[in-house]
Amino acid sequence: MEIPEGSVRNVLEQETLKWVFVGGKGGVGKTTCSSILSILLASVRQSVLVISTDPAHNLSDAFQQRFTKIPTLVNGFTNLYAMEVDPKVDNDELADDGMDGILSELTNAIPGVDEAMSFAEMLKLVQTMDYSVIVFDTAPTGHTLRLLQFPSTLEKGLEKMMSLKNKFGGLINQATRLFGLGDEFSEDAMLGKLEGMKDIIEKVNRQFKDPDMTTFVCVCIPEFLSLYETERLVQELAKFDIDAHNIIINQVIFYEEAVESKLLKARIKMQQKYIDQFYMLYEDFNITKLPLLPQEVTGVQALKNFSRHFLTPYKPRLIKGTVEELEERIFVLKSQLREAESELDRLKKGKQKV
Ligand SMILES: Nc1ncnc2c1ncn2[C@@H]1O[C@H](COP(=O)(O)OP(=O)(O)O)[C@@H](O)[C@H]1O
Ligand SMILES: [Mg+2]
Repeated sequence: MEIPEGSVRNVLEQETLKWVFVGGKGGVGKTTCSSILSILLASVRQSVLVISTDPAHNLSDAFQQRFTKIPTLVNGFTNLYAMEVDPKVDNDELADDGMDGILSELTNAIPGVDEAMSFAEMLKLVQTMDYSVIVFDTAPTGHTLRLLQFPSTLEKGLEKMMSLKNKFGGLINQATRLFGLGDEFSEDAMLGKLEGMKDIIEKVNRQFKDPDMTTFVCVCIPEFLSLYETERLVQELAKFDIDAHNIIINQVIFYEEAVESKLLKARIKMQQKYIDQFYMLYEDFNITKLPLLPQEVTGVQALKNFSRHFLTPYKPRLIKGTVEELEERIFVLKSQLREAESELDRLKKGKQKV
C-alpha cells in the first residue's frame, strides 16, 4: 500500500480542484489553516478566493486586513482574494428584492431555507468570477453539514412555493396588481428566482460530489472531543459523497520543546494517545501535524512562516539558546533531578520500614 504523506502537498498538486472546504470544531485552527492553504494555492494556481462562511468572521483577524462580502485582494498578493459572508446580512438583500413575506413564510415552513438562498446567491456571484480555486473557511461542524444539505432544503422550498401558489390561486398576483407593485413582486418572479438558485445549487452540488473538483480538509487538535467530532464529520461527508483525505492535527506539542515542564509532558502524553488513534482510524488519509506555537498566527508574514509546516513535516529543534537560557535550563533540570532523587530515597526508606 502507498503510504500517505504527512503534508497537504497533495492538495496543491491536484490541479483539477475547484472547491476546498476546511472544517472542524471551533477554535482548532480552521481559519488559520484555510488562510495558509489559500496562500499556498495562490503560489501554484492562477487565482484563489478564500471565503469565510463562519458568522464569527476571522479571516480579517488572520490576515490583519478588513474583508467584506465583496472579494478583496489580500495585501501583498496579486491573485489571492478574500471575502466574508454573513447569512443574516444577505437576507436583508433578498428582502429588498421583494422576497420578504414569502421568505419568512418559507423560513417558518422549512428552517434553513433562508440560509440556503443566501448561500445560493453567494455561489452565483462566485461562479461568475472565474477563480481557479475557492477555499471555504467553514463554520463549526454542525453548520457546515447543513450547508451541504442546502440543495434538498431548496427543493423543499420550491415545493412549498408551489403549494402556496396552488392554495392561493393567483391571489398574490392579483394583490400585486391591485396595489400597483412591480412585476418583481409577483409570485412567478419569486418562483423564477428560486428555480434559478436551484439550478446553480444543483450544478455546484454535482461539483461538490466530484472528488476531482472538491475535497474537504478536516482540522482538529489531539484531544478526545476533537477526535470524536472529526469521526462524525468524516462519516457525514461520506454520507454526502464528499471527498475527504486530509486531516490536519493542529496545536501538537513536541517532546523536544517541553523538557522542563511537567505540565507539558503530561499534555504530550495525552496528545500522543489521540494522535495514535488518528493514525489508526485514518490510515488512508494524509495527516499533517502542526506544532503549537507560543504565539498566535496572525498577519501575512506569520501565516507564510507557518505555511512551511504544511509542506514538510515539522521537526522540532533542540532548544539552543543564549548562555542565560542554558543556565536557566540546567538549573531547572538539576533541581528536578534533586527532587526525583529525594523522592526515590523516601520510597526506598518507606519500603525498608514495611
Ligand atoms: N498551531 C498554533 N499555535 C499557536 N496558535 C495557533 C495555532 N493555530 C491557531 N492558532 C491561533 O489560535 C486562534 C484560533 O485559531 P483559528 O484559526 O481562528 O481557529 P478557528 O477558525 O478554528 O476557530 C487564533 O488566534 C490563531 O492565531
Ligand atoms: Mg474561524
